[in-house]
Amino acid sequence: MTKVINFAHRGSSAICPENTMAAFHKALEQGATGIETDVQMSRDGRLVLIHDEMLNRTTSGKGLVKDHSWSEIGQLDAGSWFHEDFQGEKVPSLEQLLDFTRDKGTIVNIELKNGVVLYPGLEERVIECVRQYGMEERVIISSFNHYALVKCKALAPEISTGILYMEGLYEVWDYAQTVGADALHAFKYAVLPEWVEQARSKGLVYHPFTVNDAKEMMHLMQAGVAGIITDFPDVLHGLLHGEGG
Ligand code: G3P
Ligand code: MG
Repeated sequence: MTKVINFAHRGSSAICPENTMAAFHKALEQGATGIETDVQMSRDGRLVLIHDEMLNRTTSGKGLVKDHSWSEIGQLDAGSWFHEDFQGEKVPSLEQLLDFTRDKGTIVNIELKNGVVLYPGLEERVIECVRQYGMEERVIISSFNHYALVKCKALAPEISTGILYMEGLYEVWDYAQTVGADALHAFKYAVLPEWVEQARSKGLVYHPFTVNDAKEMMHLMQAGVAGIITDFPDVLHGLLHGEGG
């Protein structure tokens, strides 16, 4: 089970402001072997790591990410909303995260947030960035927008993709193959042990989200999932390395 990828969801987001360099650094300190992050695009086409389409919840800014330039987004405080200790944290770019992780062996799960705002050209820019940092072998691109994943696979067959979904899709392993996906990024309750086995027989792995309870982590690992996306990479690290749970 120690091979299970420990994906820190938005970084170590239980104790740091999500999707900041502080959260990514903390995740690796806590033993995460993967980082999940969300990417949107600025008005001038920069790849911005932020979960929401709007700046309001997690920064000192207001309005849509797509209506702001990268230099405007760079002025914002992305830490104070979480805790005063993080005042001055910035909204990072995808380049910053790939630069940070490229010599560390970390798997980076880039979730394309192009379900609400479509961000024309997002797939091309993400792939260009991944190639620029030589991270093709260590990136998984996921999205709830499966058209975007088909596009990514056509543009970059060498980069893994994962379909995000919430419910118990019928024989999802067959559907995933029509999308050309390599992984199933399923909501945690849309995973059964027999499905994990079926998927494996078709060459597909499960990376369920967002699993924060140690018992649920154990059940999923016993079912044979290949990775877990969690806000608590320290808890999962403890289970994987026999330090409690
Ligand atoms: O990638 C797993 C998870 O992050 C998907 O949902 O809303 O947390 O981005 P969300
Ligand atoms: Mg996400």
